[in-house]
Amino acid sequence: MITLQSISLSYPDRRQALSDVSLTFQSGIKTALLGANGAGKSTLLNVIAGLQSSNGGTISGLKGKIGFLFQNSDDQLFMPTVWEDIRFGLMQTGMSASEADIRTNSLLKRFNIFHLKDIPCRKLSGGEKKLVALAGVLSTDPDILLLDEPTEQLDPRSRRKLIEFLNTLSQTGIIATHDLTLAQKTCQQAVIMDHGKIVAQRSIDDIMNNDDLLWQYGLK
Ligand SMILES: Nc1ncnc2c1ncn2[C@@H]1O[C@H](COP(=O)(O)OP(=O)(O)OP(=O)(O)O)[C@@H](O)[C@H]1O
Ligand SMILES: [Mg+2]
Repeated sequence: MITLQSISLSYPDRRQALSDVSLTFQSGIKTALLGANGAGKSTLLNVIAGLQSSNGGTISGLKGKIGFLFQNSDDQLFMPTVWEDIRFGLMQTGMSASEADIRTNSLLKRFNIFHLKDIPCRKLSGGEKKLVALAGVLSTDPDILLLDEPTEQLDPRSRRKLIEFLNTLSQTGIIATHDLTLAQKTCQQAVIMDHGKIVAQRSIDDIMNNDDLLWQYGLK
């Protein structure tokens, strides 16, 4: 179980991005992190991943390897080509070079991006970048998934395949998203954020069936 206690964060010269956030995430459960633009979802994921320091509060229970998908794929992809980007992540897990080659091939095929293997990442479309980033994150079998807008820019078929793939995974996951279908089909719990605060944490069905709540916080 991951426990956040009284996490706060202020960016310089801005109002508080996170304000006294206390939450628990059960092991093996996927939670949708919902909220309007600027609610603080990405900031919270960054703090949980240790990419950003909070101004106060504690996080406990983060055991194992974190797989982090950035909202902006340009923050994620850094090797010259798609092939090298995926292979690099696999090599970091201690895999042999020949094993990494085989896994890279099969991942590229699984995510339908094999035809892009020799293309420089910076020349990909937004959705293609997202698929490469997702393949990279999911390739190393992380223990905890922190995914920031995984379906943003994906076409319907890629989105459907991603939903199917996420449903084969049993890791603890936190998925920041505006995609309510993704949330409903992959998550058991949902959290709604508003102006840096948690305003609801309930089962996904409770949240999805509460139209007033969805309208109130800009989710519909
Ligand atoms: N690097 C930064 N410097 C200053 N303010 C920032 C920075 N990053 C985010 N913010 C501010 O913090 C608040 C929360 O931003 P955050 O990116 O966490 O929102 P979000 O819920 O992920 O939004 P979106 O749905 O648009 O992705 C916003 O008001 C934003 O302007
Ligand atoms: Mg965001």
